[in-house]
Amino acid sequence: MSSLEQIVAAAEAGFLAAKDPAALENAKAKYLGKTGQITAQMKGLGQLDPEARRTQGAVINQAKEKIEALLNVRRTAMADAQMQSRLDAEAIDVSLPGRGRGVGGIHPVMRSWQRVSEIFSSIGFEAADGPEIETDWTNFSALNSPENHPARSMQDTFYIDAKDSTGKPLLLRTHTSPMQVRYARMHKPPIKVIAPGRTYRVDSDATHSPMFHQVEGLWIDTDISFADLKGVYLNFVQAFFETDDLQVRFRPSYFPFTEPSAEIDIAFGTGPLKGRWLEVSGAGQVHPTVIRNMGLDPEQYIGFAFGSGLERLTMLRYGINDLRLFYEGDLRFLKQFN
Ligand code: DAH
Repeated sequence: MSSLEQIVAAAEAGFLAAKDPAALENAKAKYLGKTGQITAQMKGLGQLDPEARRTQGAVINQAKEKIEALLNVRRTAMADAQMQSRLDAEAIDVSLPGRGRGVGGIHPVMRSWQRVSEIFSSIGFEAADGPEIETDWTNFSALNSPENHPARSMQDTFYIDAKDSTGKPLLLRTHTSPMQVRYARMHKPPIKVIAPGRTYRVDSDATHSPMFHQVEGLWIDTDISFADLKGVYLNFVQAFFETDDLQVRFRPSYFPFTEPSAEIDIAFGTGPLKGRWLEVSGAGQVHPTVIRNMGLDPEQYIGFAFGSGLERLTMLRYGINDLRLFYEGDLRFLKQFN
């Protein structure tokens, strides 16, 4: 083997041994680089006479071309291998089923909100929406709550660092009842409205949350009676709980904005809660002072109102025993409702 053939063979072995493109370029430099072996051979041509220079030059060139060809074969092979491993890594199996996106669901309390709105809408009640930041007047005074009522205390009510036009601090509404006054001042009787929404109190345990939901109901007309309230509420709970096997009772109670006032209890005829009286709502005949604050004449108009906790209704409907489950965002709990 001539020394040139040896160089070509060594180059081929070197190229094959190179593990990556950088190693390959290093191997190339050993033969074709400035100080490479082929380059050295070329430089040696200068010492030969013209005739020998031509023949030897052609032989060296052949060797050089061979090395370049070997190099290119190896480069291509490396590039192909690299491409193949990338393709393997990024392979997409188009026959696999789609992953899809998690389908969102409606929160159980929001589901109740919707149900309540639908049921009341079916018997002619509008659904109204109102501010969660309220004035002292609408949340308390207009509803006949005395100045020194404990609900106004700092312990029960979230106050805001802002005042209304009379200089009283604004607050997060503690119930949906202010909507009675707001709505009645903007609409002419007869009024049939519900106002579901968020309410706030400084309170937190298994049955109380600082933010919770209520639905207010208000019916004002000239010739209605407590029997109408009772009929409407019975119809509502029977539709809401999807059973006629259910009793309603009105138990005397006290609220500043109603006279007389009642707590509404229900009792299921079947199921795990069978026969137990369960409190679901406050209610009553709208107090004449409140009717007056609505801008109406209590001699002419009579009103009935109720305020029910949406969480409470939802817990009874689904048999949930801890209110906090509603606010923890645990999908294992929430998924059961969708
Ligand atoms: N606002 C009362 C509360 O949060 C509930 C209530 C009681 C609403 C009697 C009413 C009502 O409309 O007539 O506890």
